[in-house]
Amino acid sequence: MSDLFVKLHSGSTQIKFESLQVGTDALVVTDSNLSSRLSSYQPIVVPAGEQSKNLQQYGSILDQLSARGAKRKTKLVAVGGGVIGDLVGFAAATYMRGIPLIQVPTTLLAMVDSSVGGKVGIDTHGGKNLVGAFYPAQVVYVDVSWLKTLPQLQWACGMAEVIKYGLIMDAELHESLSTSPMTEMDERRSSEVIRRCIELKKKVVEADEFETTGYRAILNFGHTIGHAIEKLTNYEQYTHGEAIAVGMYVESIIGEKLGLSTPGLAKEVAAILEAHSLPTNSLVLKDVEHIIQLMRGDKKSVRGEISMSLVTQIGEARLVHDIPESLVREVLSAT
Ligand SMILES: NC(=O)c1ccc[n+]([C@@H]2O[C@H](COP(=O)([O-])OP(=O)(O)OC[C@H]3O[C@@H](n4cnc5c(N)ncnc54)[C@H](O)[C@@H]3O)[C@@H](O)[C@H]2O)c1
Ligand SMILES: [Zn+2]
Repeated sequence: MSDLFVKLHSGSTQIKFESLQVGTDALVVTDSNLSSRLSSYQPIVVPAGEQSKNLQQYGSILDQLSARGAKRKTKLVAVGGGVIGDLVGFAAATYMRGIPLIQVPTTLLAMVDSSVGGKVGIDTHGGKNLVGAFYPAQVVYVDVSWLKTLPQLQWACGMAEVIKYGLIMDAELHESLSTSPMTEMDERRSSEVIRRCIELKKKVVEADEFETTGYRAILNFGHTIGHAIEKLTNYEQYTHGEAIAVGMYVESIIGEKLGLSTPGLAKEVAAILEAHSLPTNSLVLKDVEHIIQLMRGDKKSVRGEISMSLVTQIGEARLVHDIPESLVREVLSAT
């Protein structure tokens, strides 16, 4: 497969569909679930899990970089899921005011989403992804053979984002996933679908790198409600993909009720999610007051109003502001 190039103001990324090649001037960072497979690189190892995307692990990576003699031209190679990509990316963005970053995404989510677009960062007590930078990797090595060992739950989580791309931007992708659900890794098809998703993300981030026009916000379909669900359950009960699956379904109902989405959209969304073992409902939605409060604090909201990216018809989406609270309340209570 030929390379893709994502051209951003903050730097350009070459996406290679092959396995990692590292020279001698590189340091590898990975998580504790993957480190045994990378022992020949003597990697810096971070405990697996979202709780590692914090100031302490960030500081520890910086200390290990200086202890190992990292210089301005040393390449920092992040091998792992979105947690490693974001954490190590932020270390690369700030160590000596920026050293070259290479990403090797090993989860489906990291391949189709987090390794492309330049966002890196960590969580603090104040919130998730609260501190970060735009710092695109110079090279991303997409090697689908990593996915052979990915647990089913993580696969489904990545598929939620893949399904999202079809719904917001690519009716043909949606049709293919609806007709023949991608419930497990199949090297040829997975490679094609992952490449397609990267092309779609490239299109969005090149057009609205810094989220100034509202276009990049279409990637947030399902995320207004999804993020509220994640926060209310302390990021413990649902994977990100499961939370946004519920979000995509409920936001489709809201879109239909507003008359902005084609009738029947929510039913279609429910069908594709269920075919990929993803949920469409959560008891947390019954906590209507809290969900609404969290939605008003969402980053897409300009003045505390409710904003969502909604699918107008399959393959198209747009950011909608000032969604009536009464309608959201009605939908949440009835779901
Ligand atoms: N920067 C962005 O634009 C962006 C976009 C979306 C998500 N994110 C971030 O990504 C993070 C979530 O990423 P994630 O879902 O990849 O989580 P993750 O990095 O925690 O990986 C999930 C789990 O899978 C394991 N794993 C990874 N690769 C594996 C493999 N090949 N085989 C077996 N196990 C493997 C990991 O050790 C971990 O336990 C969140 O912190 C989120 O904020 C960032
Ligand atoms: Zn997401």
